[in-house]
Amino acid sequence: MVLWEASAVVTSFIVLNVKAFALLLIDLFQLFFPPEQKSLLGKIILVTGAGQNLGRELSLQLANLGAILILWDLNEETNNQTAELIRKKGGKAHSYAVDISDQEAIAATATQVRKEVGHPELVFNNAGTYEYKPFLSHTPKEIRRLINVNLLGNIWVTHEFLGHMLDHNSGHIISISSVLGYIGRTNVVPYCASKFGVKGITEALAEELRTNRRSGVCITAVHPFLISNIDDVKPNLKFPWLFEILEPSDAACRIIRGVRRNEEEIFLPEKLKPLMVFSKVLPRKLRRLFGDYMEA
Ligand SMILES: *[C@@H]1O[C@H](CO)[C@@H](O)[C@H](O)[C@H]1NC(C)=O
Repeated sequence: MVLWEASAVVTSFIVLNVKAFALLLIDLFQLFFPPEQKSLLGKIILVTGAGQNLGRELSLQLANLGAILILWDLNEETNNQTAELIRKKGGKAHSYAVDISDQEAIAATATQVRKEVGHPELVFNNAGTYEYKPFLSHTPKEIRRLINVNLLGNIWVTHEFLGHMLDHNSGHIISISSVLGYIGRTNVVPYCASKFGVKGITEALAEELRTNRRSGVCITAVHPFLISNIDDVKPNLKFPWLFEILEPSDAACRIIRGVRRNEEEIFLPEKLKPLMVFSKVLPRKLRRLFGDYMEA
């Protein structure tokens, strides 16, 4: 009896290892032969923070792929300009002015969107704000705003649109996080808190969907290093070829490619991924040593 139990444990352990090895092989294979990109033709896609920078670029490129865009931004004027740019090229766009930090405004606008356009099949949680200064120099008001927009805004938007996706076991929620949602650095304490939170949402939600057999709904976290004119800080780095600073149009193109392949985590530049994953297994003191070395 004891012998039988022991052999069952050994067998299940061997099966586990075979499965893990197979998954690694598939990952390696897909590195060289990436999966096909899904079509976005005729898909209803919501982009928050669509009035500028990355949000605008994402919207324009998604529209070029034949998607119907729902544009959300606090700034009505720049948001309308994005819609105009899309329509001029023959695309479809609907703009809505909404404050992403306001849960009631999000709920009301979501109802309006469902009535006027339909249920979005992809949602890009892109709206975000950024502050770079010592922790104690942030006012409580600034901290509250940052958490309300970057973290709670993400939660409210996801909460609003996920239900319909689950009912149909089909959909995709993309959150633009940051490399600072992966590693903590100086002068960005509240920002890191918000982006680590976003990373937490995506990872936990993906697990919840998996255990509830809703794997038709994909969850993606995007971790850009730096995109020019989003962050005003240009760090002094030893390896500029590794830590590329991307233009919003280039970043948008690479994000959309990853999303169309249903990737769960997208790093920008992509070559940062092994470094980031590796840095997590290092003891913190070693991580600091390497981090300091990277900065000139
Ligand atoms: C933006 O577009 C909406 C809908 O098309 C319109 O109602 C609104 O007046 C426009 N606002 C601005 C500031 O252009």
